[in-house]
Amino acid sequence: MLEPLALHASPADKRQQYQDVFASIQALLEAETDWVSAMATIVCELHHAFDAYDWTGFYRVVRPDHLKVGPYQGGHGCIDIPFSRGVCGAAARTGKTQLVPDVHAFADHIACSSSTLSEIVVPVFNPEGQLLAVFDVDSDARAAFDEVDQEQLEAICAYYGQRFPQLPTA
Ligand code: SME
Repeated sequence: MLEPLALHASPADKRQQYQDVFASIQALLEAETDWVSAMATIVCELHHAFDAYDWTGFYRVVRPDHLKVGPYQGGHGCIDIPFSRGVCGAAARTGKTQLVPDVHAFADHIACSSSTLSEIVVPVFNPEGQLLAVFDVDSDARAAFDEVDQEQLEAICAYYGQRFPQLPTA
């Protein structure tokens, strides 16, 4: 497992850390066919690679317009999120990554922890364009995420969607 990257590392160091973690994820999942194991592995590798990551997890689409927590690391994560609520619901509704430098400025943010200050949520699609899940990272640091996090997490989520294209409900 990699040494966690410090907060406020340079964009180049952050991009390199993501690329190293992504290579590790692909090696670990090379022969994997189980989506639960794949989600758990992706969450674990990413959570321990960045000091900025205080809560890391997937919310799966379990029925139309409804998310339910999947594999995660960190404190208690709320279990059910309708598409109408929260940063996760916004990512699911819009199909766009939500990059939130200050969660207190996000009108309908759902605070699973009172210490969360910033968040990024990435939609996860299969190759047919079907929404499978959203990938959620919370940080206790303000403005912890930027375009490098977005670009790299979108690539890792696209990899998940290509490898495990079925709805993660079974
Ligand atoms: N903050 C998210 C809810 C999930 S907890 O952070 C793990 C939201 O507003 O949707």
